[in-house]
Amino acid sequence: MATAAEVRVGADEVDLASGLLWGAGVTALSEEAGPDGAVLLRVDLPPGGVASLEAAVGGRWPVVAVEVDDGVAGWRAHARVVRAGPVVVHPPWVPLGEVAPGEVVVEIDPGPSFGHGAHPTTRLCLAALARILADPSDGESPANRPPTGVSDPAVLDVGCGSGVLAVAAVVLGAPSAVAVDVDPAAVAATRDNARRNGVDDRVTVPPAGATPLTGVDGTFPVVVANIGAAALRELAPALVARVAPGGTLVLSGLLDPRPADLAAAFAPLAVAADDRLDGWTALTLR
Ligand SMILES: C[S@@+](CC[C@H](N)C(=O)[O-])C[C@H]1O[C@@H](n2cnc3c(N)ncnc32)[C@H](O)[C@@H]1O
Repeated sequence: MATAAEVRVGADEVDLASGLLWGAGVTALSEEAGPDGAVLLRVDLPPGGVASLEAAVGGRWPVVAVEVDDGVAGWRAHARVVRAGPVVVHPPWVPLGEVAPGEVVVEIDPGPSFGHGAHPTTRLCLAALARILADPSDGESPANRPPTGVSDPAVLDVGCGSGVLAVAAVVLGAPSAVAVDVDPAAVAATRDNARRNGVDDRVTVPPAGATPLTGVDGTFPVVVANIGAAALRELAPALVARVAPGGTLVLSGLLDPRPADLAAAFAPLAVAADDRLDGWTALTLR
């Protein structure tokens, strides 16, 4: 699976291209001399993957997905236990340490997929899921709360990566979750992690496909999608269609400042909560 991307630009285009790539949410960027005086920019993949890099550079240069050998291995050596709300994400090869009363532990090995839990976009989703599952009317002022809450919150996780959100949702008390991804490695990791946490009977992971949402039937009281602004915009109608009446949609992977017009693409749902962490935003819509 691709863990990075390369963009070959002219020497006089480095500043422009770098600015656009940083704007897409990459967290690391290196430059090296390429053939014929070109410069090779190598970046890690932001939450929206190669698609969001392509959208950011607007077709000026091709974006090539590449596999970087030390990407995942390098992360594994520095893995740590992550806390988000009451959720403790535990990489199984590091000591868990003490767990406080009220915390729930999910053991996640992402393999080559995204979702070790530490990224701000994931932590925002975990905290939002914990709030929603504890109080389905979260994000609503008391006056606006629906008369009946979501009593049986099944969760749809779109762009599941390691499965950290789907698995955590079920461990937090959701009766079931469906997790979809375009990447077969993510599907495999999610199935492994559901098994690892003893919830594989409650987490359904359809095979990966170019349009995995089309294979999912029905609506869900809780839908979460941590897939970046470009993919969110593209999937907006399909995501809205998956939210059950009175349900909640959590959107994440939005680098600050988030696109001002993004929320409007999800009408008639409206923003009920706007959570920020380390330069990223997650929106809760109802
Ligand atoms: C940022 S990762 C999120 C992983 C995990 N849910 C988390 O919060 O840590 C985004 C995932 O979305 C997947 N993805 C990107 N576009 C998608 C689409 N259109 N439909 C489904 N999955 C998509 C990617 O393959 C990747 O695994």
